[in-house]
Amino acid sequence: MTAHVRLPHPLPVDDATHRAFLTDVVAGLSADPKSIPPKYFYDERGSQLFEAITRTPEYYPTRTETGILTARAAEIAAFIPSDAALVEFGAGALTKVRILLGAAPVHAFVPVDISETFLLGQAARLSREIPGLQVLPVVADVMAAFPLPAEIAARPKVGFFPGSTIGNFEPHEATAFLRHAGTLLGPGARLILGVDLVKDPDVLVAAYNDAAGVTAEFNLNLLRRINRELGANFDLGAFWHRAVYNRELHRIEMHLASKTRQRVRVDGRCFEFRRGETIHTENSYKYTPELFRTLAAGAGWRVATTWTDPQAWFAVHALTLD
Ligand code: TRP
Repeated sequence: MTAHVRLPHPLPVDDATHRAFLTDVVAGLSADPKSIPPKYFYDERGSQLFEAITRTPEYYPTRTETGILTARAAEIAAFIPSDAALVEFGAGALTKVRILLGAAPVHAFVPVDISETFLLGQAARLSREIPGLQVLPVVADVMAAFPLPAEIAARPKVGFFPGSTIGNFEPHEATAFLRHAGTLLGPGARLILGVDLVKDPDVLVAAYNDAAGVTAEFNLNLLRRINRELGANFDLGAFWHRAVYNRELHRIEMHLASKTRQRVRVDGRCFEFRRGETIHTENSYKYTPELFRTLAAGAGWRVATTWTDPQAWFAVHALTLD
């Protein structure tokens, strides 16, 4: 059998993407408190740094989730019909889905990711590795409405959203995403989700502030990208990476804090920073199983099964549409 990788239609990305990036950055830096949407982390270097974070000793979610997927592969596979199309949201390096594909040999695989170069490279590699699998990459923001490839229209669809990426959405956005996933995947759809659990704040903070400074580099890379793509003059040495746990909102917050009082220019506009003022760059919400069940129910999904690791640090939930 031949391998299929369908290249997406060329998008008029450059101009529109550039303008959206500039608009979002200017709006975020004009607001009080300042913030920048986390989707802009993932340029090529950002995607590579992110993969490096997942290998740091402090960042337990990836290896814990991988452990659950490996230990429970047969049970999870029983949840995936063999004629199904598996749709992975925010696909990245496709490491975790290989575990599922090994246990549940589906017909088609649709990796969806915002980082085009990275996605297409990874999809081509997977396709060479599993020759019988139809690989249909889609370049899209998982929160946006995008069409699924026509090739999988008639197949039962199973969504896969690992990595606790759902925790990077605000709760109302997480509900919107789950609703959108239900509509996109259609009646009878199933969804397998990895969700990080509430736990000891020290463990959480260390995971987002590794000793080798990879997460700091990842956070600061956002400023490097703004300098390069939007003609800004951020001094990367004048900001530091901060990760704090907000107990009330059960979320890790990542910030870039200004070391001094300073001014930064972005596309001809000037932005002032007080000493210690931060740009809020990302949240990572943590959910107890109960909190997650409530979130899912609010979007029309029922949690059929939940698997966790022995320390109960991470959860993999299997959902069915109500
Ligand atoms: N969703 C994962 C998490 O929140 C991965 C992730 C997204 C992440 N952005 C990150 C990890 C920034 C570290 C730093 O844990």
